[in-house]
Amino acid sequence: MVTILSAEDLSNLANQALKTRQSVSELRCIGCGRTALADRFRCEHCHDLLEILYPRWDEHGAAGLDARALKTLWRERRSSFDPADQSGVWRFREILPEIGAQKIITIKEGNTPVYELPRCAKSAGVDQLCGKHQGMNPTGSFKDTGMTVAASFARQAGYRWVACASTGNTSASMAAYAARGGLHSLVLIPDGKISWSKLSQSLDYGAITCQLKTDFDGCVRVLNEVVQRMPVYLLNSVNPYRVEGQKTVAFELLEQFGWEPPDHIIVPGGNLANSSAIGKAMREMKQLGFISRLPKISVIQAVGANPLVRTIRENGGEKLIPVQAETMATAIRIGNPASWKKALRVIRESEGTVEEVSEIEIAIAKAEIGAEGIGCEPASAVTLAGLKKLVKQGFVKPQESVVLILTGHALKDADFTLKFHRGDLFAGTPLESESEILKSQQRAPLVLEPNLDAVIDLLRAAED
Ligand code: F0G
Repeated sequence: MVTILSAEDLSNLANQALKTRQSVSELRCIGCGRTALADRFRCEHCHDLLEILYPRWDEHGAAGLDARALKTLWRERRSSFDPADQSGVWRFREILPEIGAQKIITIKEGNTPVYELPRCAKSAGVDQLCGKHQGMNPTGSFKDTGMTVAASFARQAGYRWVACASTGNTSASMAAYAARGGLHSLVLIPDGKISWSKLSQSLDYGAITCQLKTDFDGCVRVLNEVVQRMPVYLLNSVNPYRVEGQKTVAFELLEQFGWEPPDHIIVPGGNLANSSAIGKAMREMKQLGFISRLPKISVIQAVGANPLVRTIRENGGEKLIPVQAETMATAIRIGNPASWKKALRVIRESEGTVEEVSEIEIAIAKAEIGAEGIGCEPASAVTLAGLKKLVKQGFVKPQESVVLILTGHALKDADFTLKFHRGDLFAGTPLESESEILKSQQRAPLVLEPNLDAVIDLLRAAED
């Protein structure tokens, strides 16, 4: 381990370390531990998922640097004009697999804000609450942090085509990174039940976009067959390079918190890669000496798309219980999540938990985050809805620090927001009678005659 203070020495050392970084990462099966070739997704022996490990860290630290040196180096890169340094993912490159600088595809992802949410804190019953807003990434969701790494790997490995199945955000992100990197991209999304804005993004960025007459899980099935027959690189979240990129949100969050972990991190659960990535980052930060304790990582699902919650509650995590998923939070409308074992491990080792929230609870939480002047898409709002329940259960104590991972931008699903405020989100559904409770949060647009008095009367009424 090396401890250095001067910035010049640091960058010399980082350059030195780069030369010795060749093949410091390897792919290993999370089940049997066997190694795999760099462009595989599942173990050839037991078919479990693969993860990227860095065997030399124990002896040498990441890229030969200790935690103190890395913290200084990463912070310093924020004032650099180098494209990789300006990325909130690649500025942490010492903890990522090596990709040649010329192959990196970046749209300046990461470096996302942490916002205080005082009114949401009050509503949830905690003293202090923050949201780390991953919706502030270039394509409006957290997917960009993983996509920059996996798309760059695809380019480095010589692939011409990349593909994904998606509930909308992965496809938007993949299409953008493929376009920036000169790759062709194929998107498989469910026909209906994805937001128009997400669909429009992949069209805009030039992907071949197919709406299959099935749900997300059906799209994954078809895609898995496609990639076995064609030289197409899979960019779904089973891709271990995506998980590596998504790890950086946790490094960045801890940097923003002065390297003091919060007590709780709350993450929405869909295909369960994001919670896996954040947990892997925390594990690695502990291994590298950045932190001495893990925050509790808890995963929240929608009641109608709750396979992890059911799996843990009904069989203690022995065997996944897939479900036929249904929720208006379409991003997490997933019944057969690929990364469930990785997420389960994270919840167990961090002593976190799982919870499920109803459609009405999601709608209220989304409106509350919007009313803070921040906003997010419905899938992100499950975090606040889940937190309320965890506080009531006593799992989260009022004085503990909590961070919600807000995964998508409010504009990702403007339809949901408009329907909510106009009062027709639940019209014609079995939840219509329960939706009365939303009235106090609804602010429908008001149609007025175009004259001063009408507006002044309205302002006066609003004052009362
Ligand atoms: N939040 C948003 C906004 C998402 O788009 C997703 C997943 C999640 C949460 C869940 O994350 O899958 O890592 O547990 N969206 C994927 C997609 C599946 O295709 O865009 P996860």
